[in-house]
Amino acid sequence: MFTVGVLTVSDKGSRGERLDESGKAIQECLAPLGVRNARYGIVPDDRAVISDRLREWAGEGLDLILTTGGTGLAPRDVTPEATLDVVDRVAPGFGEAMRAQGSRYTPLAMLSRAAAGVRGRTLIINLPGSPKAVRECLEAILPALPHAMETVRGQAAECAQT
Ligand code: MTE
Repeated sequence: MFTVGVLTVSDKGSRGERLDESGKAIQECLAPLGVRNARYGIVPDDRAVISDRLREWAGEGLDLILTTGGTGLAPRDVTPEATLDVVDRVAPGFGEAMRAQGSRYTPLAMLSRAAAGVRGRTLIINLPGSPKAVRECLEAILPALPHAMETVRGQAAECAQT
């Protein structure tokens, strides 16, 4: 059983001015993996606040943290920077796969700067902010997540057999 944290990054959401449909969409999409939703939170688009929360949750040993929002080009979009502030190693394949798959749905997929990486034993992946984008992006990366988390834990079987 993998433990997962879902972190919604949204100024409006953090002030209670917007319902968090995207965080809910992540939890629904992950259900088939049989994960335990161990942490959930909403933070504003503030680089230090985001990175502090990522450090805290990774310190608790979560297997996976998925963020949603703040990956675009707007002045306050800093989720990728906050993520890169805390990871030990980057994992560019997740962002590449999401943008490639997303381009089948919308040319706007290229506007997401979503990053990913590993801090300690925790895989951290950024998703864009809309529930539609969350579902489309998770469709792209979900099949790789169990093996990715096992690999990060150091428990993966032979990669060639999976
Ligand atoms: N990716 C997919 N698959 N589907 C989408 O609808 N929306 C894009 C992009 N990625 C989208 C997507 C849009 S419109 C933006 S602005 C960027 O994600 C960044 O979104 P964010 O700033 O909410 O993270």
